Amino acid sequence: MTITFDAASRTFHLRNEKISYLMRVLENGTLGHLHFGGSVAESGSYGRLSGREYLGFDNRLGDPIPLECPTPGIGDYRVPSLIVEQPNGSTALDPRYGSHRVFGGKPAIPGLPSTYVQSLAEAETLEILLVDTPASLEIRLFFAIYADRPVITRSVRLRNIGTEPLTVHTAMSASLDLPDSDWEMVHLSGAWAREAHVRSHHLVAGSQSIASVRGASGAQHNPFLALKRAHTTEESGEAYGLSLVYSGNFLAEAEVDQFETTRLRIGINPEGFSWELGPGAEFCAPEAVLAYSDAGVGALSDAYHGLYRDRLARGVWRDAPRPIVINNWEATYFDFDEAKLLEIATSAKDLGVEMFVLDDGWFGQRNDDTTSLGDWEVNRSKLPGGIESLARGVEELDMRFGIWIEPEMVSRRSKLFAEHSDWTIGIPTRSRTESRNQYVLDMARPEVVDHLFEVVSGILGSAPISYVKWDMNRSITEPFSPGLKAWQQGEFMHRYVLGVYSLYDRLTKAFPGVLFESCASGGGRFDSGMLAFAPQAWTSDDTDAIERLRIQWGTSMVYPLSSISAHVSAVPNHQVGRVTPLATRAAVAFFGVFGYELDPTTLAARERSEISDQVAFYKKWRDLLQRGKFLRLRSPFEGDRNETAWMTVARDRRSAIAAHYVTLSRPNPGPNRLRLRGLDPDASYRVSLWPAARKPEGGPARPMVLGGDELMTAGIVLESSPESAGQGDFRARLYVLEAV
Ligand code: GLA
Repeated sequence: MTITFDAASRTFHLRNEKISYLMRVLENGTLGHLHFGGSVAESGSYGRLSGREYLGFDNRLGDPIPLECPTPGIGDYRVPSLIVEQPNGSTALDPRYGSHRVFGGKPAIPGLPSTYVQSLAEAETLEILLVDTPASLEIRLFFAIYADRPVITRSVRLRNIGTEPLTVHTAMSASLDLPDSDWEMVHLSGAWAREAHVRSHHLVAGSQSIASVRGASGAQHNPFLALKRAHTTEESGEAYGLSLVYSGNFLAEAEVDQFETTRLRIGINPEGFSWELGPGAEFCAPEAVLAYSDAGVGALSDAYHGLYRDRLARGVWRDAPRPIVINNWEATYFDFDEAKLLEIATSAKDLGVEMFVLDDGWFGQRNDDTTSLGDWEVNRSKLPGGIESLARGVEELDMRFGIWIEPEMVSRRSKLFAEHSDWTIGIPTRSRTESRNQYVLDMARPEVVDHLFEVVSGILGSAPISYVKWDMNRSITEPFSPGLKAWQQGEFMHRYVLGVYSLYDRLTKAFPGVLFESCASGGGRFDSGMLAFAPQAWTSDDTDAIERLRIQWGTSMVYPLSSISAHVSAVPNHQVGRVTPLATRAAVAFFGVFGYELDPTTLAARERSEISDQVAFYKKWRDLLQRGKFLRLRSPFEGDRNETAWMTVARDRRSAIAAHYVTLSRPNPGPNRLRLRGLDPDASYRVSLWPAARKPEGGPARPMVLGGDELMTAGIVLESSPESAGQGDFRARLYVLEAV
């Protein structure tokens, strides 16, 4: 990894073995972009890559010129990365190179989460100062490159060096110009209970985007966008990724211009956003992570997985094996008491489950979702001994105890609302919109964050609590904070997110041993901003195994297995009414952070024995299933969408687990082979099936020993006999590979 600056051509080169990122200070001082992609030699005549600069740039009719910090009003008519209104009302900007410095490591961003290093040698940072003198604006761009990851992280800071206020209307975290537009845009879109469905379409002239204006990143779109060539597969071809380390309103956009070049940008959504930048003040935009792969979308995902798992997540739980939980939500909903919960915990303990999580309904008068958010005092009619007695009861079973909270919210029917209705988001001249019978607290107000820190600390300090599921169950409406001036109301949505981050930061520091799981009605805030504090997230409220195939496949485009919380629930499934085999439910939930979301006391003996086997299986392979290299093999979004396959491989390639899922059974299926990936071609692997296959005469079938080369080139012969088709719908089979 190196960052070099060639003074003669004023060219910057960030380089490692996988990627190069090249920029150049153009003749007029504008920062031009030259190349982001495969690694090129350290020095070369890269200046030519800025194209027609010298022909037409003086009068600024320079549309095809690739730029690093494009601004409006000076002849670049593509989407800008920065819009700053100046005292005279102008938004034209023309920032020019001022200076730069290179240093080891990478700096944190004040108030915002970001990827980090553990030693200065892991990454290098280039900081470039651009100045727009008429606007009295300093722009500092930070580019970091890691020694061995195909990613560039980028962030932007703006400083007012004048004497009058400026207003920031747009501050994109990254803008990337690419020389052609023959790309498919890939994004993760969906809805509640249908998160992270992979969508793709070929770029067209004009702009195409995904965004959120909900106050959270949202289930509708994830703050991630990729480009791939039409022929790019999971394992070959070019792809770019843009991911934003941010949990609020975002915009990710691709614009194809008149010359068929493409500009990508990602950052805080400019819609509804503005930021008052007083004299001397600084504004920090969140970090964007740009990735490049010439080995398919799989390598792009792998780059994000490694970075987010190992250098975004933090704290003791980053590397620790995550416990198998049982959560009482789908088992009881609001209807429980201590005896019932301890029965569930005891029964789950017998099956090998390691942690009991108490979900919604333990506080205030909360027997349904119409009341009590904000009143975080235990409901003594359900839990007479308080959280402490329940938690101790669970600990006595030699299980850990976890609890659900939704700190950012308040019910209209609550003591908190009666006492502090002014802490609730709302516009004084309008009525507030309720959603799930609740309002949102004004996290932009420091006293609200302080209050929540006290309350949540009180709960966590009151009992042996090892885990917190932090929920957020509605979007923001009527964004407004009485604490802000009229002209600052455009800051509200961002300040809300900063408030959430500050609360997370304080709580995770005060309770370093607690494992946090984020949740927003499932995957409504499953983003890399949250992963910096909560290393795992509840992926979806939809626990149906077949629905989860799509949701987990899509989520895995960016986020590592160690972040994907996945539970086995009861059938008929509560979201879709589908009845799937218990083994299939586990075979899907295994690929992530595993647990249960059902009442184990109602299970038949056969089901209990199956679950004991599942728990033992997961414990045996936990490291592989939480931290292995994840490879997607057969997409539930392609072909006839009837099959899904994926696998996880140990770093040393000595073990792997591949999974194949069939949605609907088809009569008389033809032969079907599944080619595996990522194995050691020279190793021989013992291949055993889970659930164990039976020989016709009974007893488990003997495992086969097959070469890694054969498994990757010829593949596994999948069960596709007419008899296997007769086994019904929603089948799953795992292939456990151990090098011999
Ligand atoms: C959200 C979560 C669920 C559950 C409920 C409780 O919907 O996603 O898992 O915690 O809230 O109200």
